[in-house]
Amino acid sequence: MSSLTSLPALPLKLPNIRACVFDAYGTLFDVSSAAEQSQDVLGEKWRPLADMWRNKQLQYAWLRSLNGQHADFWEVTGNALDFTLESFQLEDPQLRERLMGLYLRLHAYPEVDTALSALKASGIQTAILSNGSSAMLASAVNNAGIAHLLDAVLSVDDVGVFKPHPSVYQLAVDRFGVRPEEICFVSSNGWDAYSAKAFGFRVVWCNRLSQAAERIPATPDGEITSLAELVAIVGAK
Ligand code: LAC
Repeated sequence: MSSLTSLPALPLKLPNIRACVFDAYGTLFDVSSAAEQSQDVLGEKWRPLADMWRNKQLQYAWLRSLNGQHADFWEVTGNALDFTLESFQLEDPQLRERLMGLYLRLHAYPEVDTALSALKASGIQTAILSNGSSAMLASAVNNAGIAHLLDAVLSVDDVGVFKPHPSVYQLAVDRFGVRPEEICFVSSNGWDAYSAKAFGFRVVWCNRLSQAAERIPATPDGEITSLAELVAIVGAK
């Protein structure tokens, strides 16, 4: 593996971190859980449908950032679902409404509560920084019961462009009033982790699915497979 893509060996320590800032979808919340909970209708198609929905959602966000046609992530998510349901020949308004409703109540990964609590106990501030709209994020956070473990929930709504545009990552710097290298950004999405590192954050890639290294500039400081590993990396002790 070339030095461009290789990650440092664990155990990793990132000193002087003041805040941990998390991507939402795929990192704290399981985006496939909406389709997974609809297996009674979708059957074995639930996983390929969830994958297409997610990939289209990301594509549409990036396309809209490139062509200057920003739309709220809720609209983008609905557009991506419409494309997906048509592709699977499952166009049905009730199914659409059900899946969109479930997207507002995505399951949090099982270790999220404990991981955030451990960071707070170490005196580290916590936040979400997401392409999600403020309303979507508020719904997911409240449904997961983790609002009290977050100092801020930052949405791209405030800048009108999606990650990985640097102006989105800047929102976290402005909110906490610290230097980028005092923020540990955590994402399970490789494109987001690498881009956040290029911005100047310290970055831990929660590579839940053991995906290959991205071939874009910058390399995350470290890689984990569960958020439970995080506090040992950024905690003072
Ligand atoms: C987020 C999605 C795109 O920003 O993962 O939360």
